[in-house]
Amino acid sequence: MRALICKEFASLDSLVVGELPEPQAAAGELTIRVGAAGINFYDTLIVQGKYQVKPAFPFSPGGEVAGVVVAVGEGVTHVKPGDRVCAFTSYGGYAEVCRARASQTWPLPDGVSFDAAAAGLVTYGTAWFGLHDRARMKAGETVLVLGAAGGVGLAAVQIARAAGARVIAAAGSAERLTLCREHGAEVLIDYTTTDLKDAVKSATGGQGADIVVDVVGGPYTEAALRATAWRGRVLVIGFAAGEIPRIPANLLLLKGCELSGVFWDELMRREPGEAARQVAQVLARFADGSLEPPITAACGLGGAVAAMHALAGRKVAGKLIVHPAG
Ligand SMILES: NC(=O)c1ccc[n+]([C@@H]2O[C@H](COP(=O)([O-])OP(=O)(O)OC[C@H]3O[C@@H](n4cnc5c(N)ncnc54)[C@H](OP(=O)(O)O)[C@@H]3O)[C@@H](O)[C@H]2O)c1
Repeated sequence: MRALICKEFASLDSLVVGELPEPQAAAGELTIRVGAAGINFYDTLIVQGKYQVKPAFPFSPGGEVAGVVVAVGEGVTHVKPGDRVCAFTSYGGYAEVCRARASQTWPLPDGVSFDAAAAGLVTYGTAWFGLHDRARMKAGETVLVLGAAGGVGLAAVQIARAAGARVIAAAGSAERLTLCREHGAEVLIDYTTTDLKDAVKSATGGQGADIVVDVVGGPYTEAALRATAWRGRVLVIGFAAGEIPRIPANLLLLKGCELSGVFWDELMRREPGEAARQVAQVLARFADGSLEPPITAACGLGGAVAAMHALAGRKVAGKLIVHPAG
């Protein structure tokens, strides 16, 4: 089968399109003919050996897919060959056929396209877990989203808006902020040119944001924490800026607020039933149109390296997807 192949941990440019043997499904696994695969920030890290998962060579990147089940291994009963599914695979998705764990594969409802599922499974799954589970978001609360024009960021904007929250979007350019407005953000802050804390305080009458969605890290985390309301919840999701922040603990005390870790992979591993329940909620909203993954562009295997470069270079707003057969 054709696949984008990683032969050693190196730069994105070392990836090549070539032939790999089709994977086989072991017990508890299944194989999927990939209709579409999403591009996420960690796909750019895994090929450089900078992600916690380090696959054996050769492998294909591509951590989330949607497609049709080819074969199921022993013990897999919730889906069968021919079923439409989506899956979190960690890697392997930029290939015509990939392998997935049964516990991280879910049936796709009618009306949800492969493109939508592949563009939204990880980002909306993560944002849903953060906002509805870890932060216990309520209608009327104010949600500040950092990196709001990115994959997880736009998912958080949409999910918060759909739940009746007021959304403050922080991103790195006017163009990116316009996209955030189109997806429901009410207040827009360019955090590369404006003081984040002052802007959030001024937009909230001095109270601060009830919930902070932080996928960026670096200096923005402390600024956002300083702009958090009494009893607020700050969600630590990712460090796209490349720097893991250190937090003065007295800020948590003074604000009576919570710093909450959000690790979707670990939710799937430790609480597969709860993860499946949350994924079903997300997919149901894709089906009824109340949430809609923002697909910016699609490419074939030959265009995947350029697309991954664009994402890593902060040039992508919304989501890019790969069509391995395209
Ligand atoms: N914890 C979990 O379960 C989980 C799940 C999914 C993703 N993540 C993590 O969350 C982070 C965001 O993922 P994503 O898929 O939303 O990525 P993404 O689409 O690339 O979005 C990240 C955003 O961060 C902003 N950013 C600020 N400084 C940056 C820098 N130096 N380099 C790149 N981006 C920068 C960019 O927006 P501006 O240019 O507008 O500032 C960008 O839109 C990643 O670190 C990822 O690993 C965690």
